[in-house]
Amino acid sequence: MSKHRGEFGSRFGFILAAAGSAIGLGNIWRFPYVAGDSGGGAFLILYLGMVFTIGFSVMVGELAIGRAARRNPVGAFATLKGGAWTYVGYMGVLAGFVILSYYSVIGGWTLAYTWATLGPLLDSSDTGKLGAYFSDFISDPTQTIAYHALFMVITIAIVMGGIEKGIERAAKFLMPVLFVMLVALCIRALTLPGAWAGVEFFVIPDWSRVNADTVNAALSQAFFSLSLGMGALLTYGSYLSRRERLPGVAMWVTSLDTSIALLAGFLILPAVFAFGYDPAAGPGLTFVTLPAVFSKMPGGGLFGPVFFALLSLAALTSAVSLLETVVAYAIDEKSAARKPATLAMGLVIFFIGVPSALSMGPWADIKLFGKNFLDLMDYLASNLLLPFGGIAIAIFVGWAVSQKMLDEVFGGRQTLLAKAWLWMLRTVAPAAIIWILISGL
Ligand code: PHE
Repeated sequence: MSKHRGEFGSRFGFILAAAGSAIGLGNIWRFPYVAGDSGGGAFLILYLGMVFTIGFSVMVGELAIGRAARRNPVGAFATLKGGAWTYVGYMGVLAGFVILSYYSVIGGWTLAYTWATLGPLLDSSDTGKLGAYFSDFISDPTQTIAYHALFMVITIAIVMGGIEKGIERAAKFLMPVLFVMLVALCIRALTLPGAWAGVEFFVIPDWSRVNADTVNAALSQAFFSLSLGMGALLTYGSYLSRRERLPGVAMWVTSLDTSIALLAGFLILPAVFAFGYDPAAGPGLTFVTLPAVFSKMPGGGLFGPVFFALLSLAALTSAVSLLETVVAYAIDEKSAARKPATLAMGLVIFFIGVPSALSMGPWADIKLFGKNFLDLMDYLASNLLLPFGGIAIAIFVGWAVSQKMLDEVFGGRQTLLAKAWLWMLRTVAPAAIIWILISGL
């Protein structure tokens, strides 16, 4: 079975691929604007708290389910327990469709900015001008749809290549380069005049700004950024060798993902303040402030395009994990062949994404609950599907198949970590998520 499905070649390769899934637009596009929107410092503390308690425990659980079952999300819940649990798997596959549909639209923006930052237009630190450029771009349906299509085509091509050839190889050498560039950008942003106000905003908590929405935003961001709650890591876990210790692997992925988010925060928010932009400006935050930072760097005209190219690649490694989840389902459960399955699923996702691509242009006025289509998809996925998936995974691992999972993760040893982990999944994680979801409504 495992031969036929493919397996990751090494522990290093697996960590990089799982980190490749986790690290993406969630860290560099979503995290800074959600932090800015949620008031900065207090959000940061809530976020970090949730990542290392709930997030880490659910991640170990999700990897364990995948590895124990060696199946896609639907097949995994079905073989380990079956019954109504199988629907948790379906919910994950559904979330895969929903998330990738708009993720690819934003991924398209990063591709477009790879060329755009080559042009003279962006050789300016005037956030008014950069903001206008951004709004013009996202409201042009031809461009947003074309770049969305391009992003999906590349994602489909990588997933067609299969697990070892496609994902692992791409992740291996690209992530470290992105990391080094982020550090360099951070140094530039932090030394801009006026940047310190951004650092204060980002790290000093203002608890008076915390409400149910802030807590909810922190939880959703944690799930989104760690790729949790929909079976992407479950699917990757199904390709992981039995030799690897899951808590170690999960700690690596969690820490790498968090360091990239922190770097992005220490890059974007100081730049926002240095260039007199609004931290609560929303989804355009990174796209407006980064070009301004490039314009203040020697060689920024080269740095900019290279950075956006790497950001596109980081987005691709995440997109690949989303498509892989859906494709693994089609392969395992519907006996589909990898190539046609990837193509069919990719096409469907492309079409679901079209309204998102139009949602800031021709369809900007079509709103439901005060949100445009893209925001609605993001809300549905990050604020509802992923946290619900998280509760289900916690209860499944903690109660429904706990002995099997303890064996899978700790080889049946009753260590302190094993007890703490089980306790997190049994009580703390479900209770906290339910409480946050309810108070969010
Ligand atoms: N974690 C990815 C990011 O931060 C997005 C993602 C979410 C990927 C859920 C897979 C599953 O960009």
